[in-house]
Order: sequence, then C-alpha cells, then structure tokens
Amino acid sequence: MGSSSVASEDRYEKVMELAKRRGFFWPSYEIYGGVAGFYDLGPLGARLKDKIIALWRDYFIRRHSHIVVEIETPVIAPARVFEASGHLEHFTDPIVECLRCHRKFRADHLIEEKTGIRAEGLSLEEMTRILREHGISCPVCGGPLGEVKTFNLLFKTTIGPYSENVGYLRPETAQGMFVAFKRVYEVARQKLPLGIAQIGRVARNEISPRQGMVRLREFTIAEMEFFFDPEDPWHGDVLEELLDKVDRRKLRILRADAKAKGADKPEEYGVREAIEEGIIVTPWLAYWMAVARDFIMELGVPYENTYFEEKAPEERAHYAAQTFDQLVRVSRLGWVEVSGHAYRTDYDLSRHMKYSGQDLRVFKQFKEPKMVKKKMVMINRAWVGRIFRQRAKEILEAAQALDPSKVEREIREKGFIEVAGVQIPAEHVKIVEKVEKISGKRFIPHVAEPSFGVERLLFVTLDYAYSEKDGRVVLRVPRRIAPIEAAVFPIVRDEKLMRVARSIWRKILESGMYAIYDDDGSIGRRYARVDEIGVPAAITVDYQTLEDNTVTLRDRDTWRQVRIPVDRVVDALRMFLEGTDISELGTPIK
Ligand code: GLY
Repeated sequence: MGSSSVASEDRYEKVMELAKRRGFFWPSYEIYGGVAGFYDLGPLGARLKDKIIALWRDYFIRRHSHIVVEIETPVIAPARVFEASGHLEHFTDPIVECLRCHRKFRADHLIEEKTGIRAEGLSLEEMTRILREHGISCPVCGGPLGEVKTFNLLFKTTIGPYSENVGYLRPETAQGMFVAFKRVYEVARQKLPLGIAQIGRVARNEISPRQGMVRLREFTIAEMEFFFDPEDPWHGDVLEELLDKVDRRKLRILRADAKAKGADKPEEYGVREAIEEGIIVTPWLAYWMAVARDFIMELGVPYENTYFEEKAPEERAHYAAQTFDQLVRVSRLGWVEVSGHAYRTDYDLSRHMKYSGQDLRVFKQFKEPKMVKKKMVMINRAWVGRIFRQRAKEILEAAQALDPSKVEREIREKGFIEVAGVQIPAEHVKIVEKVEKISGKRFIPHVAEPSFGVERLLFVTLDYAYSEKDGRVVLRVPRRIAPIEAAVFPIVRDEKLMRVARSIWRKILESGMYAIYDDDGSIGRRYARVDEIGVPAAITVDYQTLEDNTVTLRDRDTWRQVRIPVDRVVDALRMFLEGTDISELGTPIK
C-alpha cells in the first residue's frame, strides 16, 4: 500500500519475508512447529514497537498530561473482575465443531467465507440454520457440522495452589483502570476530566487466528479510559481548547445507518460537525478520534487509506453505547481495524460498584450551593415512644428512609403506613416540606475509550514503509519512529577512516540515539543493508574527512547527500530526524 507500486499480494509476502529475514517478527515456537496466533518480535521489531509506543504516548498522554495519566496493572485478574465487567458472559465467539474430525471453526467466519452473508451479531440458532440451509460441511474433512455454540475467549488460570481460586488473563487493560479508578482519581487531581492510560499485554483465546500479525492470541494494547461528567462533558474550556487544535481536521466516517442502507464508502465530517450533528454521540469520543487520525497518519498511512466505521448495535461489545473502528487499508488483508473507539458510558464503573460494594462515584461541588425543596416523612415521636417503647428508635430511623411520595400514596389508599413491620395510622404521620442546602452531588463518570492494537500498528507501519527502488528494498519508516536512527560507515576499510567513523558512532550513541557502525563490504552494499531496515540517515567518513573534518550525510529516501562538519553530526542528525530537509543541513554533493 505504500509509495512504490508493488502489487498488494506480492507486497504482503515481501513484507512478511523481510520481517522474518531482517528480524522484525516471526511466528513463535518455530522449532516446535509453531502455534497460531503467537509472534515473536525480533531486535528491530522490538525497537520499532518501542518507537510506536513512544509516539502513542506522545499523542495521547504527554500532550494531554494536564488531564491524562498512565498506570500499569496486572495481566492476571481474579474471576470476580470479569464477572463484573461482563466478559465472562459476553466475551465470546460462535464456534462450530466437525462431528467427524472434531476440528472447531469460528461459525460466523465460516458462514461469511462460504455464503458472503455477514454473520456478526446473528443468534446461534440463526447461524446453525444458515450452515444447514447452505449445506456447509467441515472445510477440512467434509464431515457434518454440529450446532453453533459460544466459546469464551478468556484464558483461564488459577491463582496460587488452589484450583477453586480461578483467575483470567486480561483481554483488555481497561478493567485495570476501572478497578483502580478511585485510587487514581485520588492521587491525580480529584478532578474530571481524567484519562487513565495503560500500555500492556493482553490475551484472547481466538478460535482459529489466521491473519498473521493482525489476529494474535497475545498482544499489546495501548488504550485510555477517559472519564468525564456526562452532564457537563465540555468541562468548561478544557475540551473547547483541545478541539480548537483539531478543528480543521476531517474525519472519514462510515455511519451504521448508511451501512445498513448498503453504503460502503465513508463520508467526510469536520470534528465539530460530527459532534453537533450527533454522528458521534459524545464529544470526547470525537476528540480522541481526531487524535487517532493524526497519530495513524504519522505512522505513514495516507488520509484516504484510513476511516472510521461505526458498528451496528448488534456488532458492538456489550459495554458500548456507540463504537467506531478505525480501519486502515493494508496489502492482501484489505481494511483492518487498528483501533476501537467506544463510548462505554458508566457501564463498567456501575458494574464494579455493584460487584465490589464500593462507592466509585465522584463528588461534584456546585458553583453555588443549591437550595432544594425536599419532602420529608415526620412521625409523631411521642406517640411512637408510648406505643412501641424500646422499638421506637428503630421505627423512627426507618421512617426517615421512606420515600415521601410512596407514603402519601399509602395514606391515601390505606389510611396507615407500614414501617419496620408495624402500622402507623395516618393521623400520626405528616409529610413536611423543608428547604435543604445542597453543596454538590455524587455521580458515576462516563467513559470514552480509544484503544489500539500495537502489533497491528507495527504491521501497518512496515506495510506502508515497504518500497522498492532500482530493484532493492527501501523501508521508508517515518524518520521519527525508525528503529535505528543512523548508520556510520568508513568509505573503505582504512584504519585512519575507521577510527574517525567509530568515534562519530560513539558520539551518536552517547547522545541517546541508536546507531550502527559497519565497515564490512562495499559502501553500496552497506547503504543497501541499512535502507532495507529503514535507517533514515547514513554518515560516511572518507578521505576528505581527514583533510577538512567533514563527512557525508545521506538521506535513505532520496539518496541525496550533503557534506557536514564532524562536530555538527549530532545536531544535524536530530534536525534531520525531526523532519528538516537534507538540503538545509549542509553543502550538497553533486
Ligand atoms: N478495551 C477495548 C477492547 O477490548 O477492545
């Protein structure tokens, strides 16, 4: 999909081959025959992933550090957490088993492959019926298929030596943020809005993952739970100021209602327009989608190759009131989801409140205290004392908790009320109206969540970076996220040149950048080797260096070169990596 004209199928193969050969990634457990859905990152892949994460942190955390913090929570959680979150009940995929060979398949994928019918969100019975009606049999042995069932994608384990102490590997980092919300809220500013971000490993026991780096059973998520006041999501100027910065962006959105009518192309909306027209139902979701758009483009994806697709209600996760998937077009696989943007409302915090018994609400102080008229149930204390004696205290306390409108109805309908198991005649009950001063209120924050799959981003980055020039590979990874920033070469293996080159290389390392030194083979071969792994800048020491203390600086993408003084190498490199054109950094070499 990147800049060169390598066909999509070829390109996918070439990217995968390069990834393996040069050490970006490869299937895990190869010496044992491999296990689907697991990939190792090699030395360059691990570096590239680090850089992508650093960029994500920059976009989502550092630039928003007045309202966003980062935490880290465990990968394993007790079962109660996923009972509360709804994952034990809902985090499932439909599965169907071959009754002859007992292989298992993802039923909705099988239906889509064999019939073209979109099966996501259909009931188990409907899927079973479609399989039967279309005479679909086992794609491996041709045997008959059983009924479609649900399969829970959580990986199960035990915590400690007690088999009843069940734990699960988290399928998202999000629950860590919800469970720790109260604590983070206290140590942060005790103020909304508050984003809690986390980058960490998650595991999903996918039924039959077949899409390389795009569908993994274990991967890294970078996500944020952004908590806000649903009654005042703008939070004064906070959102307004941020929106001003992304205001001119266009978001390409394929709406669920348009999709239902057969549309398959996104339409363009301004960020504010999408909010004002209710296309994105809560403004923070729209804001983080605009940030996501910029972030993805910085990985090298052109605007027209990414859009947001709104999920239909039956396609959404159980916790979401609205969801957009951010899709990127990649070679062979077509449009793949790189991030999800979900409006999770107060679903998760409410559930954790219910299951933990803890109050996870926040307190909102009103600007001015409010004088609120309040009805209260008053009971004749003297009469209650006389009649019920030692139970009087309990009865009077219980009466305070009664709902005045219900009491009014009871009096109307029955002529008495019941409280703490006793009857109080109407003449001893009064409903009085009092004015109370209220300084604030407690409420459960709502949440907008942007969530990214990091390994997918890594694959997308390589796919877009892959290009060929004069028959060789040039990996045009954006300079800012290149796994290795520079290469230093002596033009030939001459000890005088090698000594200078090594000292420049060390200076670059000391400055905090990654650089490689190489004196093996012809200079052309060495340039080719570093172009192929995306090193943006190459510095070469030649005989002129010994005369005038200058070296050449070469741009990976254009192969243009300039001469720069040795003592400016680190500064020039920094400027180059930040985007300065090479021609501005030194004297061009003809
Ligand atoms: N937290 C988002 C997801 O699980 O997809």
